[in-house]
Amino acid sequence: MAESGLSKKKLEGKVVIVTRGASGIGEAAERVFANHGARMVVIADIQEELGQRVAESIGLERASYIHYDVIVEEQVKAMVESTVQNHRQLDIMLSNAGVVNRSEQTIVDLDFSDFDCLFAINVRGMAACIKHAARAMVAGHVRGSIVCTASVVSSCGYDRCTDYVMSKHAVVGLVRLASAQLGVHGIRVNCVSPSIMATPMTCRAFGMDAKQLEETFEPLIHLKGVVLKTSHVVDALLFLASNDSGFVSGHNLVVS
Ligand SMILES: NC(=O)c1ccc[n+]([C@@H]2O[C@H](COP(=O)([O-])OP(=O)(O)OC[C@H]3O[C@@H](n4cnc5c(N)ncnc54)[C@H](O)[C@@H]3O)[C@@H](O)[C@H]2O)c1
Repeated sequence: MAESGLSKKKLEGKVVIVTRGASGIGEAAERVFANHGARMVVIADIQEELGQRVAESIGLERASYIHYDVIVEEQVKAMVESTVQNHRQLDIMLSNAGVVNRSEQTIVDLDFSDFDCLFAINVRGMAACIKHAARAMVAGHVRGSIVCTASVVSSCGYDRCTDYVMSKHAVVGLVRLASAQLGVHGIRVNCVSPSIMATPMTCRAFGMDAKQLEETFEPLIHLKGVVLKTSHVVDALLFLASNDSGFVSGHNLVVS
């Protein structure tokens, strides 16, 4: 009998890095990637205890935690190199780095020291992750998949979160150019652009609990009767990470 699409393991034998992996979208992705047969899911985050706990809950034969700070390029490089050393190769990089500053910020009150910190993570950090993942894939002759987390605000304006919106537009530019440059090596680069959902990051930024946040943003969502959860985003990430999207590169997949 043919294997059904639902039961098919889509990442059998793959080695995956998930950056910002200790909570939110990253954590949800790790669990699904491990269930889809990934040989090793490397959870990269600054939160040591939480990251270690997530790895243990997935199972240490399938997941491991590595400490890194995305703003320090040497640490990004070391994180990729130790993954290749320990697990022989890197097949998939989920580059998920991103933070939000003061949510109410408009262009009129843009604070450039906040702006620089945010760009160091959301744009520079994202570029460092793509750079070192691509180097490892090229060196290992791996036709890998790099998937970044952008945001629905990557393709529209917004009345606040000024530096965040700018940074996510930059991520889409980065994905497009990296896909054009890395295609020659068989490496695909795409991004996922979710609209807002309750995660530690958004609850903190908007000063709300998960329920309040979902109720506040519900009127802005066109699709009714369903609330956006990390699992919806992970479906899109899995599609782009796996061979289901084998001829898709340079794409910004909106989940909204
Ligand atoms: N939650 C949303 O509504 C939403 C919507 C669109 C896009 N996104 C994007 O999704 C990505 C993940 O967001 P989330 O909501 O899951 O966040 P989250 O707050 O739930 O998780 C973020 C993780 O990042 C880690 N982290 C923070 N700074 C770091 C650093 N310098 N180096 C390494 N790790 C660091 C934290 O320890 C935490 O574990 C971000 O890029 C975000 O912009 C989120």
